[in-house]
Amino acid sequence: MSAKFHYINHACFTLESNGKTAIFDPFLDGNPEGLQAKDIKADYVFISHAHFDHIADAYAIAKANKALVISTAEIAGDAGNNGCQAHGMHLGGTFQFPFGKVRIAMAFHGSGIAGGHACGFVVDFYGTKLYYAGDTALFGDMQLLQRQDAFDYAVLPIGGNFTMDPKDATIAAEFLKAKYVIPVHYNTWPPIKQDVNAYKKEVESTTSSHVLIVKPGETIELK
Ligand code: NI
Ligand code: MN
Repeated sequence: MSAKFHYINHACFTLESNGKTAIFDPFLDGNPEGLQAKDIKADYVFISHAHFDHIADAYAIAKANKALVISTAEIAGDAGNNGCQAHGMHLGGTFQFPFGKVRIAMAFHGSGIAGGHACGFVVDFYGTKLYYAGDTALFGDMQLLQRQDAFDYAVLPIGGNFTMDPKDATIAAEFLKAKYVIPVHYNTWPPIKQDVNAYKKEVESTTSSHVLIVKPGETIELK
C-alpha cells in the first residue's frame, strides 16, 4: 500500500496510509500552512527526542486525538504523566504495531530528558518502509540498519550545527542504501541553512540513492 508523506516543517512530517496517520516529531512553529495542534489528525505520534523542535506540539496532538505516543521509555513515561497514551521502547528494540513493525534505531544526540537517549525509527507503515534518523551525528552502524529491516526511504537531517551536515549526510546515504533520501532539519534557522539542491547533486552522483526534495507544506506519494 502507498503512503502520503506530508512535510510540515523542520523535522516534522506525517505518513498517511490505510486511513491512519502517523506524525513524526511534532513541531508546528513557522509551518507555511499555519497548521496548529488542533488542525492535526493523528493516530500515532513518534518522538525521537525531547528537544523542543521535536516535541513542542506532541502531547497536545496526542491528547486531542487520543493517539498513541511511540518513543523511548523516558519520553513515553513523561507523555503518560502528561495524560497521553504511550508505548515505551528503547534502542535496538522492535515491536509489531497494528500498522507494522517499528525498530528504535540509535541516534547520537542529546535526549532532552533525564536518563534518556535520542533515537531514530525504522518503521513499516502499512508496507511503506522508512528510516527516520531523528537528530544525529553520522555513525558507522547506520550500515547495519538496512540489513536488519529493509527500507526504501531514509529521512535524514542535513542542516549541520546540531546534526549531520550535507557532507556527512552524503556518507549516511552511502551507508543506508535506501532507494530514496528525503532531507529535513535544514533552513529553519540561520545556523542550519544549507543548499539542498547541491546535496541532491552530490548524493545522486556518488551513491545509488535518489534525493526527493519536499518543501514544507508539500505532499508526495511514497511506495
Ligand atoms: Ni535535537
Ligand atoms: Mn532538532
